[in-house]
Amino acid sequence: MKGTIPFVFLIQCLIIFHYCGEISGESTTIVPAENVTILLDSLLEGYDKRLRPNYGGQSIDIDVSMLIYSFGPITESKMEYTMDMYFRQEWLDPRLTFNQDVVLYLTSEMSSRLWVPDTYFINEKAAKYHEITSKNSLLRISRDGKLLYSTRLTMTASCSMDLKLFPFDKQNCKLTLESYAYNTIGVHYYWLKNGAVWIDPEISLPQFEVQGYSIDVNTATYYVGNYSQLIINFYLGRQISYYVIQTYIPSSIIVVVSWVSFWIPRKATPARVALGVTTVLTMTTIMGNAGSSLPKLSYMKAIDIFLGVCHIYVFAALVEFALISFYDSPSFEQARQLVKEARSTKEDEGEMHQRGQSNGTNGDVRITVADGEDVIEGEVTVHDSDENILQQCICSSITKCKQKLTETGFEPDSTEHKARVLFPLTFVIFQAVYWIYFLFIAHSSPDVAGILS
Ligand SMILES: *[C@@H]1O[C@H](CO)[C@@H](O)[C@H](O)[C@H]1NC(C)=O
Ligand SMILES: *[C@@H]1O[C@H](CO)[C@@H](O)[C@H](O)[C@H]1NC(C)=O
Repeated sequence: MKGTIPFVFLIQCLIIFHYCGEISGESTTIVPAENVTILLDSLLEGYDKRLRPNYGGQSIDIDVSMLIYSFGPITESKMEYTMDMYFRQEWLDPRLTFNQDVVLYLTSEMSSRLWVPDTYFINEKAAKYHEITSKNSLLRISRDGKLLYSTRLTMTASCSMDLKLFPFDKQNCKLTLESYAYNTIGVHYYWLKNGAVWIDPEISLPQFEVQGYSIDVNTATYYVGNYSQLIINFYLGRQISYYVIQTYIPSSIIVVVSWVSFWIPRKATPARVALGVTTVLTMTTIMGNAGSSLPKLSYMKAIDIFLGVCHIYVFAALVEFALISFYDSPSFEQARQLVKEARSTKEDEGEMHQRGQSNGTNGDVRITVADGEDVIEGEVTVHDSDENILQQCICSSITKCKQKLTETGFEPDSTEHKARVLFPLTFVIFQAVYWIYFLFIAHSSPDVAGILS
């Protein structure tokens, strides 16, 4: 026990020493406020904020870092994105060195009296400082004349988006900054060595996901000189789920609903027409909604292909019915002719009998017309004795017409049967090809290269 006490004491001493050493690096000496006031006054004495540090001498290096704490919204219709960040710049101003062991923590009051870089963002559309409750900025001056200037910015920047693969697209949005006045003779920008960019991993966007970023330095050549630039690329991946729920599933269901028509009897014209027209109109509405948040682009997007095909399917189902009903019911005039023919045949050798007429207004009528080997028969519901002939006309003509069509190769029944198989089969194949292609084969050109810290 006795031996351990000095040991514990030694450890404690080491901890305290270590601690004190660390704090002294941060400067702990309490300097009276008057001394700091005198120091600031002495720093500003003869200080010309119009001139950059080292004016006429070597260029200065500005280290930039960003903390992005909010991202979005990303507006495709305007091709822009918004983000909030703490924008930090560090540089050395030899005029601001001093001899006291303090770090000066200051606000915008002081920064307005010192030279600060005139950094601007090339593709910025709108940006603002936050001034509640006072301008959100900090200025820190170390004794070696190193300055840290941080401001809070909300910025909307343009981002040219390629929406050909929408909504399977990935977007690459760029932000470029440079000095407005100082070319490479005066200022060089660099990304801070450690932790140049930090994006809050908690950021969640309604449609996108910030998949990463990459940073770069560049020198741009203009008429007014060469300018040092910093570039950051944000890689944004779109989340498809919203479009699956809002567009892909409803439009697929509408297509399936349009096939119900193939199982509705051909005679039920109002039902089939209503179904066909409703599905076509619904598809039109879905198409209109899908493109509402997008700019009016001249090219086809992936979603347009899908909706276009769905529209064609729904329309084709309606056309199929129109085709069948056209061949199914020729004009009454033609029908009357046929009945006349049948009657004259009956006078010769055929027979025509009616049976089951339950009452004067309603009943089943079965007509059989024997015309040599050709037997025509049909069944109708009679509503009125005056309409009797008309109904007969239709029913007798159906059989005739069918025969005629069988000769030409068009048969409503078999067309209907084919449609029942062909429509679903081809649609399933289309769906498979579409999803495989856009999910696994097609890729937006900029693939994610960045890392999200
Ligand atoms: C503050 O200033 C006074 C007078 O100028 C000086 O005596 C004192 O040492 C200074 N204090 C510190 C901590 O520098
Ligand atoms: C700008 O850079 C180009 C090549 O990078 C160089 O030829 C040119 O002299 C530079 N201009 C200035 C003003 O520095």
